[in-house]
Amino acid sequence: MKYSHAHIGLFAVKTMESKTVMLPALVLAWLALVNGSPASIDVGQLPKATNVLWSSYNFKTILTWGPKPVNYTYTVEFSRVGGDREKNPHCIRSSETECDLTNKLLDLKQTYSAVVFSEPLSGLTTDHEEPPFTRSKSFCPYNDTLIGRPEFKIVVREDKKIMLHISDPITALYKNGRSLNIRDIFMKKLQYKIAYNKAGSTGKKIHIAEKSKVEFKTLDVDQSYCFSVAAYIPSRRGDKRVGAWSLPKCSPQEKKSVLEEYGLPVIGGAALVIVVVFIGVIVLIVMCCKRAQKQTLMAKEAVV
Ligand SMILES: *[C@@H]1O[C@H](CO)[C@@H](O)[C@H](O)[C@H]1NC(C)=O
Ligand SMILES: *[C@@H]1O[C@H](CO)[C@@H](O)[C@H](O)[C@H]1NC(C)=O
Repeated sequence: MKYSHAHIGLFAVKTMESKTVMLPALVLAWLALVNGSPASIDVGQLPKATNVLWSSYNFKTILTWGPKPVNYTYTVEFSRVGGDREKNPHCIRSSETECDLTNKLLDLKQTYSAVVFSEPLSGLTTDHEEPPFTRSKSFCPYNDTLIGRPEFKIVVREDKKIMLHISDPITALYKNGRSLNIRDIFMKKLQYKIAYNKAGSTGKKIHIAEKSKVEFKTLDVDQSYCFSVAAYIPSRRGDKRVGAWSLPKCSPQEKKSVLEEYGLPVIGGAALVIVVVFIGVIVLIVMCCKRAQKQTLMAKEAVV
């Protein structure tokens, strides 16, 4: 029994050496009683940890609880189902109300649970009583960690097809000095959900992509589209399947030529009108000139 101070009392009663073990415990208890020091706090009366919760984001996993301890400390033990209890050295007799277990739960597909003990301040400890504790719910990093919003870039290719380049979110885990991303962990189980719509329209469509580079073949060329992206792990359960959605990003609106903007009939019509007006003006000018010429001629004739 590695972590046994809580059990020595019980253990002692059952063994032949009960007297030798029981004696110090009794003396301590008595000392504590007489002194009235902080250590005399009745261990059983210490507040239990409440709201013991896992919060895990991109595989950074922290156990949190309350309340802030006054004149006592907390110790966290965790274990995989059916495994030995272990401790994080940072979370022993600590006055914090959280414990970072990111680098302890390394078998990502295991189910873990944790226990938060309330313990008297160090000094005189009373070994004969089990400190109050609260057990967490079970937690499996692979199935339960929340996946954050991915970053992505919109790339418009030369043939005007739109591509998304999604960056797989980085996790808090390292291997060989390199930080792992979620693709390193989920591999082929990782997909992306992409919600998109034509800019200005509300009808959203969903595209599921297996890779991090996504080509959209069927979008209208020269239209602006808006996209948002979330990691999608269909093998998970319920609301853990979809990670956080990225903010939307839109592809650029292509500048259209006048011809594309108004279409051939309109432009043709406009051209026709201009030509007709132009011809009309010329005809008018010509007619005016001829008339003027005639008048001057007539005037000359009249003079002669
Ligand atoms: C904590 O211990 C100090 C010193 O022993 C004592 O004065 C104080 O009242 C204690 N606080 C609580 C909340 O027990
Ligand atoms: C993780 O989720 C999968 C699919 O729902 C399930 O089969 C598996 O048992 C879960 N693993 C743990 C450790 O809970």
